[in-house]
Amino acid sequence: MTKNHHYIRFKRLGKNEPLPYGLLLLADPSKEMIDSYVKDSDVFVTLHNEDIVGVVVLLSLTTDEVEIKNIAVKPDFQGEGIGSYLIENVINIAKHKMKKNIFIGTSNSSVGQLSLYQKFGFEIVEIKKDYFIENYTDAIYEYGIQAKHLLVLKMDL
Ligand code: ACO
Repeated sequence: MTKNHHYIRFKRLGKNEPLPYGLLLLADPSKEMIDSYVKDSDVFVTLHNEDIVGVVVLLSLTTDEVEIKNIAVKPDFQGEGIGSYLIENVINIAKHKMKKNIFIGTSNSSVGQLSLYQKFGFEIVEIKKDYFIENYTDAIYEYGIQAKHLLVLKMDL
């Protein structure tokens, strides 16, 4: 459970409910990319009262594999355990679906995110060189580092 937010609820977003683009764009600055994976994915949110304060997008890759395509927490609510809570929940959902592996991709510049995922047990299995340079029109910087390469992390379930 989250550190301070015992009043946070987790739910699957209905297919007809509006997507929280503001949050999705925090994790992935390309709306085009978001739209390409979100339609085939399950979208889960955390609610604080009726406000969506966290989102996680889970895509089935194969019968055995799922990927967290997008995860984001509203800035005012970051660092309080909600991101971990979202990951825990989707791991349980994936296990329930009898999936064997879960993947998450992130950038070389996503230093904080990389520590979060590795604490959960995700391990780097692949580096897609220059992925962010080739697939995004604008340069992306985090922690003063340019996002260039996509790091693929994997965990056995
Ligand atoms: N710097 C250092 N460590 C961090 C950071 C950071 N910026 N963010 C998270 N962590 C680590 C900490 O080690 C923390 O552990 P601790 O509690 O022992 O200190 C751990 O992650 C847990 O943090 P949570 O509070 O559970 O995470 P949070 O609720 O902040 O959610 C998230 C994490 C989703 C990455 C959030 O910070 C966010 O929305 N960031 C902007 C969007 C983003 O980058 N999303 C991921 C892109 S990759 C993808 O979507 C596949």
